[in-house]
Amino acid sequence: MKVLIIGSGGREHAIATCVAKSKRVSKIYAAPGNAGIAELAECVDISVMDFDKLVAFAKEKAIDFVIVGPDDPLVAGCVDAFEQAGIKVFGPRKNAAIIEGSKAFSKDLMKKYDIPTAAYETFDNADAALAYLETADFPIVLKADGLALGKGVLICNDLEEAKAGVKEIMLDKHFGNAGNKMVIEEFMTGREVSVLAFCDGTTIKTMTSAQDHKRAKDGDQGLNTGGMGTFSPSPFYTEEIDAFCQEEIYKKTMAAMKAEGRDFVGVLFTGLMITPKGTKVLEYNARFGDPEAQVVLPRMKNDIIDVMEACIDGTLDQIDLQFEDNAAVCVVLASDGYPVSYEKGFPIRGLEKFKDQENYYVFHAGTKLADGQVVTNGGRVLGVTAKGKDLVTARANAYKATEWIDFENKYMRHDIGKAIDEQ
Ligand code: AMP
Ligand code: GLY
Repeated sequence: MKVLIIGSGGREHAIATCVAKSKRVSKIYAAPGNAGIAELAECVDISVMDFDKLVAFAKEKAIDFVIVGPDDPLVAGCVDAFEQAGIKVFGPRKNAAIIEGSKAFSKDLMKKYDIPTAAYETFDNADAALAYLETADFPIVLKADGLALGKGVLICNDLEEAKAGVKEIMLDKHFGNAGNKMVIEEFMTGREVSVLAFCDGTTIKTMTSAQDHKRAKDGDQGLNTGGMGTFSPSPFYTEEIDAFCQEEIYKKTMAAMKAEGRDFVGVLFTGLMITPKGTKVLEYNARFGDPEAQVVLPRMKNDIIDVMEACIDGTLDQIDLQFEDNAAVCVVLASDGYPVSYEKGFPIRGLEKFKDQENYYVFHAGTKLADGQVVTNGGRVLGVTAKGKDLVTARANAYKATEWIDFENKYMRHDIGKAIDEQ
């Protein structure tokens, strides 16, 4: 089978690593891919948003199976484009990816189908939003409706900050058209957990849990980023919480999407907050998390193609989804200055140390090949993942492996998975 993976981040490198292990796969292509993916796949320089070119390429190479990684192409209908061309493709269609593409849609869905989430209101004009804030409790959370690179959420401590936030989102259009609408919601406190699940439109099967560290600096300080590291499983996501979420969140979400005529096929990412008043949904994403995939997929025992194909064929109920009984930690190596401004183009040394090392992985996020050498090419450069028998061991292994890599301006957090020491 020939497989095309769309995307160029650490998540797609983790997916490619699983695909490369499948006995059913003879050749992998990636568009556009990166320097790490290039060791497993033939990379072709086509933008993830150029659906015509992607489909034409898939036809030319007689691709049997396409996997779409990132949110932007999913929300814009990439899966629909391949389906229309008669090519088997894994991911939600545009009408289902809206669960990530519009926060107003997802909040209204949860309200309509009684899925636990923070109380909220939606607004499509700034005056109404500002009037609402006058009587609101603080802190309060403002969210741009559309995709905003994970940055469209503002937590405001008082009225002044919140007014400035409404201006930023709706009037100054800081996040572009994503701010045409906005959601204002209740501030929740608690532990955050990410749960990814395979879905075939009817059946939903959850993977092992994970937790992201979104802030740039140790101790959850600094700006929000795309994610500075992850660990899996989350010790806070107990069996009891899982049992609650299966019934009250995951199954209800699948049924809700079906009832709306938007069958969800692909990976549903549910961001949860375990609050003192119960577990609630923070957000949905229509894809694997990045860097959640980098700790979840290395622990999956199944052939990823079997599982993805079952999602497309509607036979997921027949899959026995299994994960290793261990743990994984991923530490992101970033360029110093991320997420604001940083230099690129520095040579990366030490990548070869990961070759043939079982239980250690180096997933490329922002790298490229320049004159035969792998150089830094983004804010998040690499994700170093290690497994271990438990979280403490996995964490020690991952930090040991970060020492194998060297590049100018290397920056990382030193407390990824540290919460687990508090146990
Ligand atoms: P989202 O993109 O909706 O997941 O929001 C990004 C981050 O903002 C989340 O991971 C939380 O840390 C925080 N956040 C979002 N919504 C809330 C909320 N209602 N209460 C507290 N924190 C929130
Ligand atoms: N790590 C969070 C996300 O992928 O959206």
